[in-house]
Amino acid sequence: MTSSLCTTLLTLLLLLVCCSARRINLFPSLEHKYSKQPLQTSRPYNLAHRGSNGEFPEETAPAYLRSIKEGADFIETDILSSKDGVLICFHDVILDATTDIAEHKEFADRKRTYDVQGYIVTGFFTVDFTWKELQTLRVKQRFSFRDQQYNGKFPIIKFEDYISIALNASRVVGIYPEIKDPIFINKHVKWSNGKKFEDVFMDTLKNHGYKGSYMSKAWLKQPCFIQSFAPSSLVYVSNQTDLPNIFLIGGPTWRTEDTNQTFQEVTSDAYFDYIKNYVVGIGLWKDAIVPAVNNHLQPPTDLVVRAHAHDLQVHPYTFRNENQYLHFEFHQDPYIEFDFWVNKMRVDGLFTDFTGSLHNFQKWTSPISHDRLKNHD
Ligand SMILES: *[C@@H]1O[C@H](CO)[C@@H](O)[C@H](O)[C@H]1NC(C)=O
Ligand SMILES: *[C@@H]1O[C@H](CO)[C@@H](O)[C@H](O)[C@H]1NC(C)=O
Ligand SMILES: *[C@@H]1O[C@H](CO)[C@@H](O)[C@H](O)[C@H]1NC(C)=O
Repeated sequence: MTSSLCTTLLTLLLLLVCCSARRINLFPSLEHKYSKQPLQTSRPYNLAHRGSNGEFPEETAPAYLRSIKEGADFIETDILSSKDGVLICFHDVILDATTDIAEHKEFADRKRTYDVQGYIVTGFFTVDFTWKELQTLRVKQRFSFRDQQYNGKFPIIKFEDYISIALNASRVVGIYPEIKDPIFINKHVKWSNGKKFEDVFMDTLKNHGYKGSYMSKAWLKQPCFIQSFAPSSLVYVSNQTDLPNIFLIGGPTWRTEDTNQTFQEVTSDAYFDYIKNYVVGIGLWKDAIVPAVNNHLQPPTDLVVRAHAHDLQVHPYTFRNENQYLHFEFHQDPYIEFDFWVNKMRVDGLFTDFTGSLHNFQKWTSPISHDRLKNHD
């Protein structure tokens, strides 16, 4: 190809890109006259696991904002507590792996060892720090193979800050908070009026207008799934709200942290019959649904089919783009993995560290027309 032909083609391409970009933004002021673009409900949910934590340190404001920009249907978070009962977005009970706590010499004497629901854990626990103290820390990337440039830049955020981020989005974005380690939190943190962790968690949701059963008008306005690995917490909160709950289940050797039940027990038909009174679905480790041996996929279990037969949604976790997380049958291509889980396994939502990749896959394979979206108003 000659260089002049190249230039002509490039110019044409640029024109095309500019024109189409302009067309979208021709009347930005008009947008405010209409209600927000609703939650899409025609394809499996894109669940932004700890925000776009493949790109930004997990559970920080930039991680959530990025995932919203990239097309998340729901932003996911883990709720823990400070010593003085402030609910925070943070995954581990200890601060060691994802903050700069080691550099804060003033806190060097706070290291503790506790029994965390059957596991002996040593480190700097969130429950030994006041919210004021936690605010002096900065979050860092968990995985060494991911972008480290944002380490030390962003603070831990409160449950309420996370809710504000979702409510402030220019389209409807759902929230998906987890009641994390409730046995441990209730043992170490005391609230006034005899309230439990679960009560304060629910008060926060109620105070911000979250209510309504799955797919109700109120729910579609402010969508929310409440998740927990502790079934007794889900049974407890289902007495206070009709918001939909998701019961999280670990791998085959895992046991529930509160009722000490085995994986086999809680994935039985009898248990599905019981738990469906309290939850709309289950969140499962994906290798528990389709086992892998030596990184090769094995035949799928009947878990998705059986859950669906009990009217339970299935939201597997965690989809990660990096090679070390992709089973060989996916040819190191996350899109082939998405295709398998969406079109073959037919799951109802996917927790991913890379919201943008899942969104692109869905945009390309099952586009949603604007008219169709409007019907949800
Ligand atoms: C809400 O969004 C606006 C515009 O994007 C931004 O300026 C503002 O800081 C946001 N507020 C919160 C609480 O996120
Ligand atoms: C639900 O609430 C009622 C009334 O407050 C109470 O009597 C009952 O024990 C609660 N059930 C559960 C499972 O917490
Ligand atoms: C859970 O049950 C198993 C089997 O009965 C038992 O060995 C284990 O100690 C129990 N764990 C707890 C924390 O009670």
